[in-house]
Amino acid sequence: MKLRAAALALGVVAVAALAARAQESVAPSPAPSAAVAAYDPAALPSGPVGEAIRLGREIVMNTPQTMPGYVRSNMSCSACHIEGGTKVRGGSFLGTYARFPQWNKRAKRVITLQDRLAECFLYSMNGRPPAYASKEMIGLVAYIAWLSRGVPTLSTPSPQDRFIEPLPPAPPDVRHGAKLYAQHCALCHQPSGAGVTGVFPPLWGPSSFNDLAGMAHLDRMTGFVHYNMPQGAPGSLTLREAYDVAAFVLSHPRPKFDPAALVQSSPLPAGFF
Ligand code: HEC
Ligand code: HEC
Repeated sequence: MKLRAAALALGVVAVAALAARAQESVAPSPAPSAAVAAYDPAALPSGPVGEAIRLGREIVMNTPQTMPGYVRSNMSCSACHIEGGTKVRGGSFLGTYARFPQWNKRAKRVITLQDRLAECFLYSMNGRPPAYASKEMIGLVAYIAWLSRGVPTLSTPSPQDRFIEPLPPAPPDVRHGAKLYAQHCALCHQPSGAGVTGVFPPLWGPSSFNDLAGMAHLDRMTGFVHYNMPQGAPGSLTLREAYDVAAFVLSHPRPKFDPAALVQSSPLPAGFF
């Protein structure tokens, strides 16, 4: 608890220091392209479907606690899917359910939402996915479906909803990135990049996401940082600055994907349906 309070106090200092700069340059956040509401527990349907949605939300917010044994990275889904996936350009799940099934370049086949969730378990969480018929997987699907209500099925996301940006043409300046990291990131994510358990997620090292995760791509981390970091003052870094600092973060070692962790679903027991 003490550690958490101290870390939060540090965070407040960092936010105050950055707030003035943010006010100058932050762009107005784009409106969601779909008419969906953010998560409100009071608005959930009653009964088992509501319970499944609630469980999915709980997993997204507190992944290591709710799914020990499935995750090795020391962070929750909400480290990258900000505010539980309800923030536009913050890894939002608003409309995600409506975009599956979809073609997947990595798998070279059409995948379902469960397959996409399995990917984030394997790479971002550096762990193993739950069985597709488990209450955890069903809870995650129910939560994402709830956040996607009202979005027409098989619609494509508006570019306004995503954080991926075309990168600047010149290569990134990692040394400049190191300076920016010390100034704008180290207070929360620590000079070691290891973060503070339960408060600030790790950016590199053994407890971070692995080398095949989406966030390990320079274009994705640049866009994520540009729109969402530093926490409390998003938009205070230019795209170029976000690019340099992301290149610095990604110049450090992180876990390598272990193929032994590949999806192995056990057969469904007779009487499942
Ligand atoms: C280290 C960061 C990170 C973590 C942690 C993470 N994800 Fe992701 N996730 C991403 C990125 C990056 C994408 C791709 C975003 C994009 O294409 O705009 C993504 C995409 C997704 C998508 C597809 C979204 C869409 O609309 O196409 C789903 C679903 C998803 N993640 C679920 C999860 C769940 C559930 C967890 C926790 C078990 C999780 N993720 C943990 C980074 C992360
Ligand atoms: C005030 C504290 C704070 C500062 C400063 C800060 N972050 Fe974060 N960062 C967070 C928190 C908390 C999260 C989890 C998402 C959330 O709740 O916003 C996060 C999430 C992230 C993530 C996705 C999760 C992961 O572990 O990979 C990346 C990447 C990231 N930050 C990069 C940066 C970079 C680069 C900077 C400096 C430009 C920065 N952050 C500054 C608090 C901070």
